[in-house]
Amino acid sequence: MAKRILITGAAGFLGSHLCDRFIKEGFEVIGMDNLITGDLRNIEHLIKNKNFEFHHHDITKFVHVAGELDYILHFASPASPIDYLKIPIQTLKVGSIGTLHCLGLAKEKNARILIASTSEVYGDPLVHPQNEEYYGNVNAIGPRGVYDEAKRFQESITMAYHRFHGLETRIARIFNTYGPRMRLNDGRVIPAFIGQALRGENLTVFGDGTQTRSFCFVDDQVEGIYRLLLSDYSDPVNIGNPHEITILDFAKEIINLTGTDQKIVYKELPKDDPMQRQPDITRAKEILNWEPKVSRAEGMKITYEYFKGLSDDELQKREHKDFSEHIRR
Ligand SMILES: NC(=O)c1ccc[n+]([C@@H]2O[C@H](COP(=O)([O-])OP(=O)(O)OC[C@H]3O[C@@H](n4cnc5c(N)ncnc54)[C@H](O)[C@@H]3O)[C@@H](O)[C@H]2O)c1
Repeated sequence: MAKRILITGAAGFLGSHLCDRFIKEGFEVIGMDNLITGDLRNIEHLIKNKNFEFHHHDITKFVHVAGELDYILHFASPASPIDYLKIPIQTLKVGSIGTLHCLGLAKEKNARILIASTSEVYGDPLVHPQNEEYYGNVNAIGPRGVYDEAKRFQESITMAYHRFHGLETRIARIFNTYGPRMRLNDGRVIPAFIGQALRGENLTVFGDGTQTRSFCFVDDQVEGIYRLLLSDYSDPVNIGNPHEITILDFAKEIINLTGTDQKIVYKELPKDDPMQRQPDITRAKEILNWEPKVSRAEGMKITYEYFKGLSDDELQKREHKDFSEHIRR
């Protein structure tokens, strides 16, 4: 019999790619999303698939799924700085109350649950690269604290369910991931640069551009998550691409890729923006026999071509999200 999996955040960037992967692997997939930052277009190709069903639901409200469940992938959460600065309370609620609901459901169904944590649990790291033993350097009351602390709470409550209830849990510490279907103009480097390139604008570099990032292509990320879910390892595992680049060099790569004559313009560095981000993926290599395979050149080409293929209307909708109906309380 096919295994059943619930994927929260299914209409988002990573969630939708995970739905695709689990459908491909022969699972019955239940996608759940309240569409606060997600988009039904990310999963519209699945709607008629007999192994897929979609539940439009806010997981900060009680979560119920009829029938058995083998696995839960908990990916619902605003994920980009612009999103979580605009909807800080929703971000804290989905990481705390939403996670509690998912863990409760996993316990009720005796399902294994994997939660999407983040490199942001390391904050502005004082060790480099970051391995899973590092406790982090987070400013709880800074603007990014709403996301970082929600995710740290999420990890903590997940380990408590594991230790106290014996629940089978997995924690993926996801580092910066990109690819088709990500939202444009959401405050992250790659969407920002691609959006500016498509609009023919200059590329904005914050600070002097010497800060570094490491970007993981979505197919590699999905493979890492898939292996972690099916592993028997319950401590956190970093999943990301360790190839580091400065933002300035990356801006130059984008200009090469797009073949345009864009200039680089500099703006002040936002508060608490990490200077360095690079995963140590020794654990993922050892435990999951996983490491990224897609080069930045290859991944960026696929991503850029995808966005170039969208109509102006589609691009507009991917850039601007109206949160008003979600922020009454
Ligand atoms: N993309 C990355 O580089 C990255 C890095 C680290 C961690 N993550 C984590 O991965 C997960 C997915 O990120 P993403 O980039 O796909 O973001 P996304 O914004 O594209 O997707 C998140 C999805 O969750 C949904 N959602 C949010 N609150 C909800 C709620 N209360 N109830 C139901 N659905 C809700 C949104 O509508 C959206 O579809 C997040 O948990 C994020 O923290 C992502």
